[in-house]
Amino acid sequence: MALCGGWTLFPLPFCSFVCIFLKTLRSSSYTSFPRRYSIYRTSRNILGPEVQTFLEENTEVTNSGNLTPEIQLRLLTPRCRFWWERADLWPYGDPYWAIYWPGGQALSRYLLDNPDIVRGRSLLDLGSGCGATAIAAKMSGALRILANDIDPIAGVATLLNCKLNKLDPLPILTENILDSELDKWELIVLGDMFYDEDLSDRLLQWLRKSIWTHGTKVLIGDPGRPQFCGHNIWNHLQKVVTYSLPELTKEGNNSLTTSTVWNLQL
Ligand SMILES: C[S@@+](CC[C@H](N)C(=O)[O-])C[C@H]1O[C@@H](n2cnc3c(N)ncnc32)[C@H](O)[C@@H]1O
Repeated sequence: MALCGGWTLFPLPFCSFVCIFLKTLRSSSYTSFPRRYSIYRTSRNILGPEVQTFLEENTEVTNSGNLTPEIQLRLLTPRCRFWWERADLWPYGDPYWAIYWPGGQALSRYLLDNPDIVRGRSLLDLGSGCGATAIAAKMSGALRILANDIDPIAGVATLLNCKLNKLDPLPILTENILDSELDKWELIVLGDMFYDEDLSDRLLQWLRKSIWTHGTKVLIGDPGRPQFCGHNIWNHLQKVVTYSLPELTKEGNNSLTTSTVWNLQL
């Protein structure tokens, strides 16, 4: 996959991780786990207490350098060993969840500033990563939330982040929801999910079904990645709000300076 300038997020060697993430994700053979909304189990037995300990030891709790200082998150920062360590020493799958991506930041900021959008509603955070946007939705009063990410470690990170923010554990689903029966959601949010053409095609098709079947409102956060702007979805978006990215996020995202929330209208 050709990486756009704005995708390079880390100094080497961690930035090499990002390239690997994207390749891995495209050819991903993640196991489909039985539907579960809060309990963790995988066939590879990687989600024991040692995963939690590993995450706690190899991330830093931070609320700075992003658009939502209200939310504490465990992230990979330059003060963490694996920011500098060789990527192949990382013992788990690609840690997308250790980054708070600009698209997710914009969505979370928007939900925190506009609680009426989610209060009392059901919300699916598709590709939830560290769980920040699902947490923002909870803080804004969403009634039913599901954080969905195909990476089970992202689920553990989300639970740790809930605890950091003194929230009850959010329901988590780590199966590929795009292969599942369509549930009814009033709102679906997707932060930085349109970075790969095949995935974007699948997402658009799935979102289209959800909008047509259930009248779901779909909000997408994206900092203007070429893969997003060049996709067919671009013809179906209505701009909601644009945020300037904080310096630290800008530094990690090369040419990207803003992140926008879009309403998908089909
Ligand atoms: C670039 S990260 C964005 C994370 C988060 N939304 C944010 O903005 O910080 C993309 C995330 O999508 C997840 N992902 C990729 N394909 C997925 C799929 N089909 N279903 C659910 N999650 C997926 C990855 O594991 C990763 O955590």
